[in-house]
Amino acid sequence: MSHERWIITGASGQLGSHVLYQLHPDDDATDICAWTRNGPVLRTRATTRRVDLADPAQIRHAVADWQPTHVLHLGALTAVGDCFRDPDRAERINVRGTATLAEAARNAGARLVFCSTDMVFDGTAAPYREFDPPTPSSQYGRTKVAAEQALLDGGFGVVARVPLMAGMPRTRRETTFTQQVAALRAGEPVRLFTDEFRTPVLLSDAARTLIGLARNSADGVIHVGGPDRLSRYDIIARCAEMLGLAAPNLVPISRHDIEAAEPRPEDLSLDCPLLHRRHPELVPGPLRGDMLIEP
Ligand SMILES: NC(=O)c1ccc[n+]([C@@H]2O[C@H](COP(=O)([O-])OP(=O)(O)OC[C@H]3O[C@@H](n4cnc5c(N)ncnc54)[C@H](OP(=O)(O)O)[C@@H]3O)[C@@H](O)[C@H]2O)c1
Repeated sequence: MSHERWIITGASGQLGSHVLYQLHPDDDATDICAWTRNGPVLRTRATTRRVDLADPAQIRHAVADWQPTHVLHLGALTAVGDCFRDPDRAERINVRGTATLAEAARNAGARLVFCSTDMVFDGTAAPYREFDPPTPSSQYGRTKVAAEQALLDGGFGVVARVPLMAGMPRTRRETTFTQQVAALRAGEPVRLFTDEFRTPVLLSDAARTLIGLARNSADGVIHVGGPDRLSRYDIIARCAEMLGLAAPNLVPISRHDIEAAEPRPEDLSLDCPLLHRRHPELVPGPLRGDMLIEP
């Protein structure tokens, strides 16, 4: 294997922790620079660097310094509510940060994979294929579409659209999933939509696929969906089964029961013909027990 120099943005995030775990360099052929804003990253031999994605000068400087061969861009303002409340900040981090990073990566001659989302769609016409026009219904989704466009307009990099991810992070980080599993184990009621559907993937599978896409010759938009269309209720019910809980305290609710500032997409199932045809070895598997492994 030729020498690789990776930059992982969002390395302190839940997906970033799995990417670092899998890329963990055990030889001298891989150097990793793990970018974080503040959050702690998984302990590996990676070099950690604080880079604010809202600051273009920091991005350019950090890329020029490291001279990457591969860039995996996971960092983002990911909370839908935060993007709604502060659209300027969402724009600076998610759109301008991505455009600046893409340009800097191109100047360095690196391959870039950008982690986008199924929320580029509005959920009214699933399953979605790569060539379906984006129809975001949230500020978060709109920033991801604009970031995708910046990348594609530059004719550079891979846009990997990832669905809802399930699993424990590799670091101690609180997520919706960890909260739900903790409540499940404690026998507390967990309220879950039965009428909101996704094609979820395990964090570990998403990490493996994105690393693989960065290492091969993929380009353009590619969907990275899981094999099963599941409601949020189904996902946590599967966890309860895997945990062997006889009477989990699951409370089925409808998305119409909850007031939301922005419309909640009903069905964001992703169809993934390109991944199956071009990179069958990178297709994610179904949800399985290893998603419950604690860090
Ligand atoms: N979670 C999902 O189900 C899902 C589904 C589809 C797509 N995605 C996409 O997948 C990627 C990873 O998601 P995730 O769930 O792993 O995210 P996450 O756990 O929320 O982590 C977000 C990461 O972005 C970093 N970040 C946020 N603002 C930043 C800034 N201004 N400067 C530098 N870094 C900043 C955070 O750093 P700090 O820890 O230092 O704040 C953290 O490392 C994101 O691009 C997300 O949009 C996620």
